[in-house]
Amino acid sequence: MSTLSRVVPTGFDVETIREDFPVLKQSIHGKPLVYLDSAATAQKPHAVVDAIRRFHEVDCANIHRGVHELSQRSTAAYEETRAKAKKFLNARTKNELIFVRGTTEGINLVASSWGRGNVKPGDEIVISALEHHSNIVPWQMLCEEREAKLRIIPMNDRGELLLEEYEKLLGPRTRMVAVSHVSNALGTINPVARIVEMAHNAGALALIDGAQAAPHMKIDVQALDADFYTFSGHKVFGPTGIGILYGKSKLLNAMPPYQGGGDMIKTVTFEKTTYADLPYKFEAGTPNIAGGIGLGAALDYVNRIGLDKIAAYEHELLVYGTEALSEIPGLRIIGTAREKAAVLSFIIEGIHPHDIGTVLDRQGIAVRTGHHCAQPVMDWFHVPATTRASMAFYNTFAELDALAAGLQKVKEIFS
Ligand code: ALA
Repeated sequence: MSTLSRVVPTGFDVETIREDFPVLKQSIHGKPLVYLDSAATAQKPHAVVDAIRRFHEVDCANIHRGVHELSQRSTAAYEETRAKAKKFLNARTKNELIFVRGTTEGINLVASSWGRGNVKPGDEIVISALEHHSNIVPWQMLCEEREAKLRIIPMNDRGELLLEEYEKLLGPRTRMVAVSHVSNALGTINPVARIVEMAHNAGALALIDGAQAAPHMKIDVQALDADFYTFSGHKVFGPTGIGILYGKSKLLNAMPPYQGGGDMIKTVTFEKTTYADLPYKFEAGTPNIAGGIGLGAALDYVNRIGLDKIAAYEHELLVYGTEALSEIPGLRIIGTAREKAAVLSFIIEGIHPHDIGTVLDRQGIAVRTGHHCAQPVMDWFHVPATTRASMAFYNTFAELDALAAGLQKVKEIFS
């Protein structure tokens, strides 16, 4: 056992929590699974799996379309998740919550629907150096189409954004500032309230990519004053293929629909279609109903544990894991921001991350290796890829010991 100090916040019982996650109780290559890839997708508790199964076994019907009992039940359960998401983000009204496929679709919706109506040649969109591809490419596509310019907030060697440089980028042509709340590749927690405030002072809007924040910390879109905020269900212990886009209703009301189809209309004739009110204007077609219901169960689950408790426990895991990894000769942590979520991205001199990931897998340890859909971040640090261990509240200090031991083994094999 390591001599590093393990601080467990009062009332946090990780062993009981682990009982809720059936997937964690297995062996991989004969070793107990150590799942350290929650930033890619988080595992699902019984409550989520059960809610999805119950929908399919008991309530299954299309929503918003039937007077029959099953459709009523399905609609109520799906819409209940919208109410839960409103509470989760502290939005003003349910109409400000749009169901999307995930964060990627949330950003694409805004870039496409808001962007086409509001961005003109010569205008500027500001993003940051630590964005995931999903918060780069949609804006790049918009800029190409509208002959606008993409400006990038730089960061320091720790992976912290330079706000004084950001200030210089803002100007009368800035239309939108789009940044992540937490970096998926580095773990940096960005000062998003300040970033939003600075965008507003310059007359621009602000979108926050909350994919990596929603599972780890309390979010209050009113306190942040974000114009748009989006997150994915599967990273917050819910299913894949579902997520939430929050937008201020004044902005959403003024935006044209993103996609056309059923459920987003009031009336259709061959001459003219009128659109449904918020939020349905942005929800064409049969949605991921089971996913929406599963997401509701996931939000309930996270709330039951409590995001404050989750954040406190994960912080201790991060401190412990950082110390444990720092003891490994030749290992360099990429991303050492002072405000950081429980993500450890690292390189080991002379050993390719894919080799590290493969050796760890043989020991039952699941990490992500590669560029983490953030190639510009890798370029910034002059590395082609990293190995990333990302934690959630179901991880333990012992698992971080296992990671450190696994990395010692990697070193033995490749030295
Ligand atoms: N965006 C996800 C990750 O960081 C897939 O791994």
